[in-house]
Amino acid sequence: MTSQTGSGGERVGKAYLDFYGALDIIPVRQDLSDLPRHFQRRAALYAQLGLLPNAVRGCRVLEVGPGTGDNAMHTASLLPEQYVLLDANPASLAALRGKIGDGLLSASVKVVEADFLTYRTDERFDVVLCEGLLPAQNAPIPFLDKLLDMTAPGGVTVITTVSFTSLFAETCRRVLRLFFEMPDRSVAETVKELASFFGPDLRSLPGMSRLHEDWVLDQIIHPYTEVVAFPLRDAILAAAPKAEPAGTSPRFLTDWRWYKSVPDSGIAQTDFVLEQVDRFSLTMLDYRMSPIATDPALGQAVEERCRALWLRHLDVLNGRDPAALEDFATAVSEIGAMLPVGFEEARLSVTDYVAALRSWVAGHRAVEFGRFRPLFGRGQQYLMLLRHMV
Ligand SMILES: C[S@@+](CC[C@H](N)C(=O)[O-])C[C@H]1O[C@@H](n2cnc3c(N)ncnc32)[C@H](O)[C@@H]1O
Repeated sequence: MTSQTGSGGERVGKAYLDFYGALDIIPVRQDLSDLPRHFQRRAALYAQLGLLPNAVRGCRVLEVGPGTGDNAMHTASLLPEQYVLLDANPASLAALRGKIGDGLLSASVKVVEADFLTYRTDERFDVVLCEGLLPAQNAPIPFLDKLLDMTAPGGVTVITTVSFTSLFAETCRRVLRLFFEMPDRSVAETVKELASFFGPDLRSLPGMSRLHEDWVLDQIIHPYTEVVAFPLRDAILAAAPKAEPAGTSPRFLTDWRWYKSVPDSGIAQTDFVLEQVDRFSLTMLDYRMSPIATDPALGQAVEERCRALWLRHLDVLNGRDPAALEDFATAVSEIGAMLPVGFEEARLSVTDYVAALRSWVAGHRAVEFGRFRPLFGRGQQYLMLLRHMV
């Protein structure tokens, strides 16, 4: 496996493309054994975002980084007039062409083999989809800007965002990799062991539709760098000159302004939304929770601690030093102590994680991860942006 990081943890290669290309994989396969259920999940996401079927039907759609095309099957079923799937990973392209060959994706879907970073076109699209690849790009802001430039005025761009707070549980899981990687173990064997170990965690997730081995490859083994998060706040601010937020999943925004007063309210839509994003950023730490508004300063402080934890986890993994896990456990525990009233389940999860990690470091596997297992953050959030008319 090639290294994607330089000595300072910065990325020296191409996000996703290097790792996937080296292993010839596209580890985002969905469980399609019950296709209607898969379509329902996708329809629910689009409805939550406000991307209604007729906003796709008869329209021009571009999807950047469609991967296996599992999600594209649903979008194609909404009958866009034009549907372009752009990807640069050989295994993704093979999967997309395989689906067209098998009749699972309509032959009118156009597959474009290109790196989005260097792709040039004058075409504009009514809907531009980019799911699961923006936050870990080396430079997410110019990437987003390019997506917006390809969106027609009045059209929408759908992206995913990630905060370090929403990554907290995954950061905790990723360091456990050290206990499973052995010099004489192949990547495939390690993946199998990790999928079995994290099985209870994944089975606790209602609606978990991704194959467990793929989740392990992409969330635990993937050599992400320090560039991994692109929070909602940053995405909304970066898009502000060209677009405004029109929907999110999870849908936590409320707007009680009388619609006639909105133009005179003096609060731009962006500011209005950011105010709520900041108050709910902490809730992204635990998907089990209903949204709890907290002091934005606390949300920001936890985000900063989770960012520091991510950097520390990179040191632990790159240094391959289990002793460094003691400091890591302390940092996790300190984040747990910052969680306010309403976050009791998350705090208990943290307590069990820290106890188990410390016992593993000491060489005992007797202590279980218990109440940590069902802790998952809002791994990725979806944001739909409405492109300004001019
Ligand atoms: C994590 S997968 C997400 C796939 C799918 N959108 C999903 O959510 O299941 C990322 C996909 O984006 C593609 N990708 C990443 N960077 C790209 C780039 N610069 N140009 C084109 N495709 C890219 C990868 O090849 C891969 O197919």
